[in-house]
Amino acid sequence: MHPDLERVLIDTATLQNRVQALGTAIAQTTVNAPELVLVGILKGSLIFMADLMRSIEREVSYDCIAVSSYGASTESSGVVRLNKDLDLDIAGKHVIIVEDIIDSGLTLKYVHDLLLRRNPAALEICALLNKPERRNVNVQVDYRGFDIPNEFVVGYGLDYAERYRNLPYIGVLSPRVYT
Ligand code: IMP
Ligand code: MG
Repeated sequence: MHPDLERVLIDTATLQNRVQALGTAIAQTTVNAPELVLVGILKGSLIFMADLMRSIEREVSYDCIAVSSYGASTESSGVVRLNKDLDLDIAGKHVIIVEDIIDSGLTLKYVHDLLLRRNPAALEICALLNKPERRNVNVQVDYRGFDIPNEFVVGYGLDYAERYRNLPYIGVLSPRVYT
């Protein structure tokens, strides 16, 4: 375990099994959808999306959008900014937004509202992690990996100040690292 962690919350095997199940669920739900597009929210969703995409046994394309709300802090600033828009036209397509973690819900709400205005045939949300205690805007999550307690986690794409994204598991960061 990385020395900056308090404990491992979700190990690699558990992550892989759950991601596989999410991919199977997505393939089943979208069986009648002609075009499926995954939209990953950079940068945190990168590793999750790469694994998820390979567990979906059907034709699928993907794109990325970049937003920021956090900076080098463990609390959301509450202000979401669009840093990079999509390349693909999503009108008429079945779109699934792929996010690493839902905390307040502000980031997802912003991206969901933005993409909805582009007339996709369907717009769903897939989030690996969910902190239910922290939610202050209402977003419907169609595919969810794990509900987790209100602790700051890193690894499998999630960072603190751009660190720890490469850990192959999810761990709880020791508060001494950020206090
Ligand atoms: P929200 O807008 O408050 O829902 O925050 C979502 C974003 O905050 C995620 O995309 C993450 O980048 C970041 N975030 C929230 N909680 C954590 C955490 O525990 N670890 C790492 N990043 C987090
Ligand atoms: Mg982040």
